[in-house]
Amino acid sequence: MPANSTQPETPADFDQLASRVWTLGANLVSLRPDGTLRTSHGECSILPSALTAPAALGAAATAWRELKSGQPPVQVATGIWLAPTCLPDDQDETGQQRHVLLLVDDRVDQQKGLRVIDRDDVARIASIANWLCENSQTTARQAGEIDSLTRQLGATYEELHLLYTLSNQMTVAGSADQFLSTACDELREVTELTWTALLVTDSDEPNEISGRTIITGQLPDGVKVINGARAALFELISTTLDAQIVEDVAGLGQPSLTPLGQSLLVVPVAREGALLGVLVAADKTDGEALSSVEAKLFHSMAGSLAIYLENTTLYADLQAMFVGTLQALSASIDAKDRYTRGHSERVALLARQLAEAAGLDPAAAERVYLSGLLHDVGKIGVPESVLCKPGKLTNAEFEQIKRHPTIGAHIIADIRKMNDLIPGVLYHHERWDGRGYPEGLSGDAIPLYGRLICLADSFDAMRSDRTYRAAMSHTQTINEIVENTGSQFDPELTPLFVNLSFDAFYNMLRTHQVNHTFPGAAA
Ligand SMILES: [Fe+2]
Repeated sequence: MPANSTQPETPADFDQLASRVWTLGANLVSLRPDGTLRTSHGECSILPSALTAPAALGAAATAWRELKSGQPPVQVATGIWLAPTCLPDDQDETGQQRHVLLLVDDRVDQQKGLRVIDRDDVARIASIANWLCENSQTTARQAGEIDSLTRQLGATYEELHLLYTLSNQMTVAGSADQFLSTACDELREVTELTWTALLVTDSDEPNEISGRTIITGQLPDGVKVINGARAALFELISTTLDAQIVEDVAGLGQPSLTPLGQSLLVVPVAREGALLGVLVAADKTDGEALSSVEAKLFHSMAGSLAIYLENTTLYADLQAMFVGTLQALSASIDAKDRYTRGHSERVALLARQLAEAAGLDPAAAERVYLSGLLHDVGKIGVPESVLCKPGKLTNAEFEQIKRHPTIGAHIIADIRKMNDLIPGVLYHHERWDGRGYPEGLSGDAIPLYGRLICLADSFDAMRSDRTYRAAMSHTQTINEIVENTGSQFDPELTPLFVNLSFDAFYNMLRTHQVNHTFPGAAA
């Protein structure tokens, strides 16, 4: 919104002032240099015809030019006085300069039978009129200041409200996409822009938000258009990391930016000099120009988003490191025996697929994956001579093997963040008919994680070579699982399992068979 003028130069101001001057018995009029009269007040018709003649008006204009502020009034026609005003010259619609004159017509009073005014009377009227002018100017200036302050307060409130909403959203569980979309949409609504987009930079370690593009609002072919403009948008701010208001996008001569709109606001999302993304928006919905108010709100939002993006990336890195550590741990245990190389990772993969097929949400399925990775971690407490023994195990040796679920559960019991993984570790050798170990639980009494991993574990074991037998074929394995439904396996999970896609499993199996680089792997 443009700032209000502190000068009463608009027609409305002029009319208002002329109306007040009229109550003093005087006329506030203006003249163009060519002598054309502007009567802003409707009752200026009292002006004598002699004065409205072009010659008289020209004379009045000449007299005005010779008048200086503070000089006494001059009589420009019979009974017509001209006095200087403090009202600044203004311009008409065509841009022509106009002189503002104060005319006092003493014949009005004469016709009403009142007194005849003299030069001193006119001077007093002029003085009061000038006071009104000054008062009007002061009022207009104060109104402008109040308006400016109101707009500043409004912008500050919007900023606070936006940041408060954003901080509330940060505490609500949800995906990064959901949060970023909400933030962009709030920003777009508050600033009344046609559309808003967030472009997240690609990171060296890809995570769920790296390279993402979030768009809210009305932008035809949004994803295609924004992706086409991605490089140019980053280029606009990457050098200085300063916000840019582009008032004429077409004037930039960048074809990829032209479809975005007429005007653009491009704000870097940066943290300690590192560019994490770009906030972009175009065109106010009311057609007004983009201003520092929108830029300020975007800048505030960019600061919060930068912290969020940085935290999300750090968390993703931590999570990747955590999963990587568990994968390395399980791989080192599997590598003790050449026949179980890669076993835990494949079991984890299938268990997660089965969990998803059973309707678990992505977060729970991920916990099943981690539990699958760790399901045999207790084998670390079983002597290698038993674990890798070629041939048939004695009963005592088998009893030692059977301890690995319990040992594994004890290993992770002291890690609070991993307590929910224990059921998959402790119960993956339980059977649906209650003949499993370590506790002999049956049916639904076996925790779900245990039943899920049991199926994945058994499938991978049957598909792998053992010292005492060759790997079964895929069909043989599936048939074996179906035959043991209701005895060994959960009858509700088995149909889901046999209908899984095993493509990823076999890709991984091939990788594990080719890759012989596990530390400590048997030759
Ligand atoms: Fe096991």
